[in-house]
Amino acid sequence: MRSKIVAGNWKMNNNSKETKTLVKGIRKSIKKLPLENTRVLVAPTFVNLMSAIKRIKKSKVEVVAQNMHQENNGAFTGEVSADMLKSIGVKSVIIGHSERRSLFGETDEVLALKVTKAINEGLEVIFCFGEQLEDRKSNNHFTVVKNQLEKGLFHIEANAWSQIVLAYEPVWAIGTGETASPEQAQEMHAFIRNLLQEKYHTSVADNTSILYGGSVKPSNAEEIFSKQDVDGGLIGGASLNVKDFTDIIKAI
Ligand code: 13P
Repeated sequence: MRSKIVAGNWKMNNNSKETKTLVKGIRKSIKKLPLENTRVLVAPTFVNLMSAIKRIKKSKVEVVAQNMHQENNGAFTGEVSADMLKSIGVKSVIIGHSERRSLFGETDEVLALKVTKAINEGLEVIFCFGEQLEDRKSNNHFTVVKNQLEKGLFHIEANAWSQIVLAYEPVWAIGTGETASPEQAQEMHAFIRNLLQEKYHTSVADNTSILYGGSVKPSNAEEIFSKQDVDGGLIGGASLNVKDFTDIIKAI
């Protein structure tokens, strides 16, 4: 059975003190929630991973990284390897976020290498993808998403899918306040699940969690999460506030 997941992507927010306060707050506020088959993830910046990990011990919160490099080590100034993440206890990593693609030039080809590396290192990958506004306006959103998955992800073997979580994030809905309607999210998630069945197997399609991301907030989370193929959310802005993030977790 696939898990329900609420993941907070903190992006380039929170200094050391703010990270500690936020982790402590989330840890406390979800302590008594019945989180059966539901995972709660937070993704601080690299510098704050270690302190976050220290503070989630014996709690239901998991700490994930926002990115990693595809090589083992070497002359890659400013980069962080899978081994470095693992050595401090990180078990999952976000790969392919739209900001990495658009602001830092990460191509499908580079993302495919990162995915391979993370899988081989035993890390779980939260793979992000999604269309631009013009793709949707021109009715190309299904083609764009299919392409991103084929180029970045579909090279992996069926048995590696237990290490993959998908996050559909339409770029036009990220940080804009504009959310895909629950119907638009469901339509795309069902399309993706169907692709997994065609390319791999029913078991891969049934067991892979597909998250929605893009302006999820307490006021719209429940309706989006109620859709059959939406298994949770990747939350940006609203994950920086304990109450909002907790309310979104409650919605699932
Ligand atoms: P917002 O929730 O702020 O729109 O961000 C979504 C996102 O990019 C999560 O990765």
